[in-house]
Amino acid sequence: MYFPSRCFTVVLFFTGLSLMIPHPSVAQETTIPILTENNALVLRAGKNGDLGVIFLGRKLSNAAEYDEVPGMFRQGDDYTNSLNAAYTPSGARNLLEPAITVTHSDGNNSLDLRYVSHRFTKVDENVSLLSVELKDPVYHFDVTLFYKSYYREDVIEQWSEIRHREKGNVLLQKYASANLYLKGDRYWLKQYHGDWAREMQPEESQLTHGIKTIDSKLGTRANLFQSSSFMISLGTPATEDEGAVFYGSLEYSGNFRVDLELDYLNNLRIIAGINNYASAYTLKPGESFVTPVFLYTFSDKGKGVASRQLQRWARTYKLVDGNGDRQVLLNNWEATYFDFNETRLAELIKDSKKLGADLFLLDDGWFGNKYPRNDDRAGLGDWQENKIKLPNGISSLVREAQNTGVKFGIWIEPEMVNPKSEFYEKHPGWVVKQPARAEHYFRNQLVLDLSNPEVQDFVFGVVDHLFTENPTLAYIKWDCNAVIYNAYSTHLRNQSHFYIEYVRGLYRVLERIRLKYPKVPMMLCSGGGGRVDYAALKYFTEFWPSDNTDPAERIFIQWEYSYFYPAVSSSNHVTDWGKQPVKFRTDVAMMGKLGFDIVVSKLSENDLRFCQEAISNYKSLKDIIWHGDQYRLVSPWESEFASLMYINPERTRGVIFNYLVSSRYGSGSKLPVKLKGLDPARKYRIREINLYPGISSLIEGEKSYSGDFLMKVGFNPQVNSGRTSVVLQFEEVL
Ligand code: GLA
Repeated sequence: MYFPSRCFTVVLFFTGLSLMIPHPSVAQETTIPILTENNALVLRAGKNGDLGVIFLGRKLSNAAEYDEVPGMFRQGDDYTNSLNAAYTPSGARNLLEPAITVTHSDGNNSLDLRYVSHRFTKVDENVSLLSVELKDPVYHFDVTLFYKSYYREDVIEQWSEIRHREKGNVLLQKYASANLYLKGDRYWLKQYHGDWAREMQPEESQLTHGIKTIDSKLGTRANLFQSSSFMISLGTPATEDEGAVFYGSLEYSGNFRVDLELDYLNNLRIIAGINNYASAYTLKPGESFVTPVFLYTFSDKGKGVASRQLQRWARTYKLVDGNGDRQVLLNNWEATYFDFNETRLAELIKDSKKLGADLFLLDDGWFGNKYPRNDDRAGLGDWQENKIKLPNGISSLVREAQNTGVKFGIWIEPEMVNPKSEFYEKHPGWVVKQPARAEHYFRNQLVLDLSNPEVQDFVFGVVDHLFTENPTLAYIKWDCNAVIYNAYSTHLRNQSHFYIEYVRGLYRVLERIRLKYPKVPMMLCSGGGGRVDYAALKYFTEFWPSDNTDPAERIFIQWEYSYFYPAVSSSNHVTDWGKQPVKFRTDVAMMGKLGFDIVVSKLSENDLRFCQEAISNYKSLKDIIWHGDQYRLVSPWESEFASLMYINPERTRGVIFNYLVSSRYGSGSKLPVKLKGLDPARKYRIREINLYPGISSLIEGEKSYSGDFLMKVGFNPQVNSGRTSVVLQFEEVL
């Protein structure tokens, strides 16, 4: 009988040291568990150095038993010994979808990658970094796989670094960030599609054999049609509280590609990274190609746990100031569109104060002189104040806001240009277009060539100039309204690098902005939610989920974003979209970062009073909504109403939002809503807030119930056609 000798390294993970584990002897197998509080991803290098994923799921009590896992599966033969490869090379033994494909400097297309060594580095008490060195036995070609694990949040970030020392350039045809392997009897993919005003439309379906690809080729606004965030349930579709589910998302703002390949053994191969479409990358000897990060989490207790893990991680490690404060703002976009002047804005600034908002946000339309920005057909790119609308410039508005006691923020779209602009007349070469082809526009505009450092300087300058001129500027809404057509850069020699260099250029600009202005709140907007990913969000405090602010739609859109993004990052504005009363609109916007985009002066006395009181309620609850734990209680997709709750970490206080989503006769909350996350032993008092002036609540606010009761029996918010949205606040009774 053969007993392989094994080099086992789990103990080293906890030592806090950076340790290099050397190349094992030929007959040795090496098991590398990456452990988080609840989960494990386990890699194993076989005797010949093939590195595979042998486990991904709830971690075992005894780490030594991971080696027994593969032996328990009798699914058939893997002729290649590489179906579970941790980074599948192509052109040698591989028969399925590769993670990496290259053409070597001698024209050969084959690549093999064998384990050389690995190293664990403890970044801090919560974060560890594993790097695994892989090498081609024939070519001087190396790949390092990185796995950054966040212990408490059960999140792993994975990426790769590709290098070579061949005699000439190597062409990278495909260069994924991550390659994973899941085992289950069935796999259910929940994916998202959309378009303008209907972002994050979910679809859940069982994966069949073959490859399902989720991708984007849009260049910018990459999520417009599909999101790179998805989830896979194992066995049956996970519910909020039950089932095994994997969440994945690519941290990248450009073309992405996720291949989900159900192989002939019935295992799921996940390969995620930059889309290699039109992007073969020439890598010089000695250069490194670092892929973007693919992030994932896993829960065997349903989708709710997985999202809370991800939300906590995002607040702590990704978003700018994710655990910090935010401002309630009044935006003028839907109140005025492009039609405003200094007097009108001064009124709106005063209205912000009257409403109880902290900040006034001036949207599109404030710039352009030769080609004034009076609609979306002209002026984009000319970032000088329009002299007719704003004869005294932005600085007078900033002063006006200061005198009124609110802060001032401004909209920009610095990556884009209207052909009808002075900018385009001066710099036709700074725009993405095919020199010999007709221009093609998205929202009447073209994209600037951010691969060009001069253009990067220009874009940085737009922001920098605004801050230099107005040091108290307190907020930026950064928009991006066009996709890339006719991809071509006059700056680049190698057009296959264009899509990648665009994104690199964008990050360079954002990096510079954050170096100089580390904390200023910035909203990531892209004609709605066309660009929502964790690489971009590293530079932003929040994102704009959709231009569709009809609350009936927003309930669903915000619900779906909440699987992947925390409430603090979701900018929800009360606008005049939809037919619902202002209470309903405000209650829906309150489940994230609340803002307004309405004509305050047109509100009835009661509507205004309601909004003022709602803002004050919001301010007393914002810490819980932004930084607490969120539970999705009743799904709008499956019921006549939706219900979500947020609770503080101490489990003493929280808020429950309930919204009617059906207009059918008799719709409402017929059954009690079972609350979650409470302490069963404590008693809680529940009372209704956000009551419209003159309306009294049906909820007996003085009664208290045990957490046990509220979680087992539940509480009825009494949602019905006369009470279409109900906000309940609860707190512990001592
Ligand atoms: C995009 C944004 C909107 C608004 C307009 C201005 O559509 O999503 O919120 O800022 O641009 O043109």
